[in-house]
Amino acid sequence: MLATASTVVVRRLPTRLRWTTRLASSTPPKFNSVTKEDIAHFSKILPPTSILTTLEPASASPSELEIFNNDWIGRFKGQSTTVLKPKTTEQVSQILKWCNERYIAVVPQGGNTGLVGGSVPLHDELVLSLANMNKVRSFDPVAGILVADAGCILQSLTDYVAPHNHIMPVDLGAKGSCQIGGNVSTNAGGLRLLRYGSLHGTVLGVEVVLPDGTILDQLTTLRKDNTGYDLKQLFIGAEGTLGVVTAVSILTPPAPQASNNVILALPSFNNVQPLFRQVKHHLSEILSAFEFIDRTAYDLAVKHGQGRALESDEVEGAECFVLVETSGGRREHDEEKLSDLLEDLLSAEQPLINTGVLAQNPAQFSSLWALREGVTEAVSKEGKAYKYDISIPLASFQEVVDGTRERLRQKGLLHDKAVKHVLGYGHVGDGNLHLNIVADAFLPEIQDALEPYIYEVVQSLRGSVSAEHGIGAMKTHALPYSKDKASIDLMYKIKKVFDPKGIMNPGKVLE
Ligand code: FAD
Ligand code: MLT
Ligand code: ZN
Repeated sequence: MLATASTVVVRRLPTRLRWTTRLASSTPPKFNSVTKEDIAHFSKILPPTSILTTLEPASASPSELEIFNNDWIGRFKGQSTTVLKPKTTEQVSQILKWCNERYIAVVPQGGNTGLVGGSVPLHDELVLSLANMNKVRSFDPVAGILVADAGCILQSLTDYVAPHNHIMPVDLGAKGSCQIGGNVSTNAGGLRLLRYGSLHGTVLGVEVVLPDGTILDQLTTLRKDNTGYDLKQLFIGAEGTLGVVTAVSILTPPAPQASNNVILALPSFNNVQPLFRQVKHHLSEILSAFEFIDRTAYDLAVKHGQGRALESDEVEGAECFVLVETSGGRREHDEEKLSDLLEDLLSAEQPLINTGVLAQNPAQFSSLWALREGVTEAVSKEGKAYKYDISIPLASFQEVVDGTRERLRQKGLLHDKAVKHVLGYGHVGDGNLHLNIVADAFLPEIQDALEPYIYEVVQSLRGSVSAEHGIGAMKTHALPYSKDKASIDLMYKIKKVFDPKGIMNPGKVLE
């Protein structure tokens, strides 16, 4: 039986732990602003087109730097005067070496689609954009191993390997803008982690430039390599705090011969768990995604034109929806398995679903996916989003969404008072809930109602405050809810080894 919202046990974070973490960061290093002299030096490394600066003589206007200074959700804003766009690893090395000597803080930036304020400056740090490092270095079609510059857009890599009958192991709604270096640096999860696993498994190697300019060549294409500590793992999910990832070697799975998807409408969230069990059992090796959106998320996706709305009788009485995708080797076999599953589900004495809508062609396949992938876009069009990306037991998904809504109601903040919606969606197969609160504006009273409440709930469930988006600037204070003191202390020590002056993305991940 599911616990109700009121039964969630909330423990306060021990005061000692909070104090210790603050103490560790109580002496923030002082950084220098970029000066005209620095620009003169960068001009010896980069062509004029690769230097955007508002410092006189300006090569860019303040509005041209806006996109580099503002994050995707419109919550974090920096005041950087300078963006550098190197083309080669050697140029990155020379830039970092100079910044390190001059105590200039650096924010590596990929597609700037990150959702935790990690990719934009907090003050006037220099932005190092990887956008011009966008070449595929090699692809081995037999082994399926791709080596690419960090600035390659995820979608362009998907397109690159497609004619070789391979796919990228990671897929996410931001694929048209995010870069592989950004994906690796955030350890992005995405829509098919259930099938292809995390980047900690599929990334075989990285090339990284350390703050002092050292080029760390970990760009192996070996599947097996047990030669001591696996250093590359430290950069997967480091969010630009240890160095700049300049290239990635990654294992691409063979493309499935056939993919199908279906949206299932459920009368109650309580049915999601038994449904997941049944779907896994029935589809076994061909299951490639099991994604969840609640009714509010569905309504917002439809309202903002993400995918085609289902018929009214298909959504009637539905509390939530699950998107199931299959990817396999033989179309008839997979279709038969999926239809059998639907038949079983609908003919059960107590059906877990009200109805299922099966895509009949590629356009419908994309449209059903858009209802799920488009929730992020829809939420951002609807208002200002407080985004919580948490790992918790699947059984608690709904109670956490409902509990949050109830708390905001009790605080008098719901609906006509600032908060418009509380919704849940995410990657059921990975135990990852995206809890979003959509408001008219970012307001301190909403923030105070949500935090530390949500983090305490996560801690009480032994969950994670960041399942896949990372810590960035948004959750540095929340790290102790998911990591113990010994782990955080070690993280500070590791940071010091790689970045003794602390110039790499200061204020992100660690306070
Ligand atoms: P950025 O946003 O530019 O940077 C993210 C972080 O990585 C920053 O800390 C930055 O400093 C660092 N960084 C970037 N490039 C480098 C580099 N080369 N070297 C060192 N550090 C670097 N995330 C998921 O996990 N799963 C999802 O399903 C998902 N869906 C999304 C859908 C939408 C519509 C959007 C807008 C975002 C989504 N995200 C998702 C969040 C985001 O993490 C990913 O979009 C992506 O991995 C970020 O890549 P990026 O190139 O945009 O990186
Ligand atoms: C998703 O799963 O859609 C992404 O992680 C983005 C989001 O949380 O909105
Ligand atoms: Zn996600």
